[in-house]
Amino acid sequence: MTDLPALGVYVHWPYCARICPYCDFNVVRDRGKGEEQEALARAIVRDLTAQRALTGPRRLVSVFFGGGTPSLMDAAFVAAIIDTATELWSPEAGLEVSLEANPTDAEAGRFAGFAAAGVNRLSLGLQSLDDEALRFLGRNHDAAAAGRAAEKAAAIFPRLSLDLIYARPGQTAAAWRRELEAALELGPEHISPYQLTIEAGTAFNRAVGRGALTPTGEDLGAELFDTTQAVLEAHGFDAYEVSNHARGEAARSRHNLVYWRGEDYVGAGPGAHGRLTLEGRVATTAPKKIGDYIDGVGFEREVLNAREAAEERLLLGLRIDDGVGFGEVAALGLSPASVRHLVEAGLLADDPQRLRATRAGRLVLDRLTAELAT
Ligand SMILES: C[S@@+](CC[C@H](N)C(=O)[O-])C[C@H]1O[C@@H](n2cnc3c(N)ncnc32)[C@H](O)[C@@H]1O
Ligand code: SF4
Repeated sequence: MTDLPALGVYVHWPYCARICPYCDFNVVRDRGKGEEQEALARAIVRDLTAQRALTGPRRLVSVFFGGGTPSLMDAAFVAAIIDTATELWSPEAGLEVSLEANPTDAEAGRFAGFAAAGVNRLSLGLQSLDDEALRFLGRNHDAAAAGRAAEKAAAIFPRLSLDLIYARPGQTAAAWRRELEAALELGPEHISPYQLTIEAGTAFNRAVGRGALTPTGEDLGAELFDTTQAVLEAHGFDAYEVSNHARGEAARSRHNLVYWRGEDYVGAGPGAHGRLTLEGRVATTAPKKIGDYIDGVGFEREVLNAREAAEERLLLGLRIDDGVGFGEVAALGLSPASVRHLVEAGLLADDPQRLRATRAGRLVLDRLTAELAT
């Protein structure tokens, strides 16, 4: 069983209590359509079963419920999906089962049900511990509720991760340091601090267009990034990826490592993507509309050519410490000699086997990958 190639499963649950002004994920307002949600859960089970026919036997290393807001799911749906995945593929010992949760009191009341269904890692979308910032971010919880939800999660789940959003307008490095330290006191083993990104099509993007919102400049963004690294390092968290910090190796997100190591994953749920190594590197995309997904129409499958697959492998691999082997991106024709100038510029580590970004390289990752891929 251990010889089987690794497989992760991503499940997308698209409903949210309200839509946040910065978010461009595939989401819809939850209008309490119980029948539709039940049909969606059934369609996800069907989709997983159909994809098993493609993948064959695999070693299941992770199941991840993302969204949207999976903490709004009926725990019975979560249980049915976990049971399906673990029947279809061979779960490894200590299988990681993560679920993204929003920290409202109502959702915290459902945590025990998720744990009973088999979830062992909660990823809590704290975003901030400052009430004004939470209002700015359009969240439906305040800092006190976030604290209560984190406390409850820490008591119920063996593993807790917190998401935070920084580089908010007007934020200072000193205030961000205090906020991060307060988040650490909630006892997570993993923290994902993301810089606020203004995404096309969001309310924040329209506000920027009207001049009502000024995004944080690059210099302050870089200062806040450095503050993040320093505070988390001082508390024993290693930055194993650009925006992901774990207290020790066992606390790293196995699911995210599937993506960054270029392993295979099945995506189920509206708009979910998957990557499978079959007759080549195959990209799967589920239809974005909930109705289409339930009706089983609009699923796409595309074989990436060698260059596309290598570019993707590079982009993801450079995000983690381990980087990516030269051999894994052979289609790009890179060699230790051809990247020498980037080593000398301090952006890549001096490693004859692997392409690995230095801390300075991670700060300009987009530019670095663009240069390597052309
Ligand atoms: C799928 S989302 C949300 C999960 C959950 N529904 C929530 O809101 O907490 C996963 C994470 O992406 C981050 N995120 C989403 N949009 C972002 C943006 N525009 N800029 C920075 N971080 C963002 C947030 O930290 C969020 O917790
Ligand atoms: S940030 Fe989370 S709660 Fe807000 S719209 Fe996006 S997925 Fe939904």
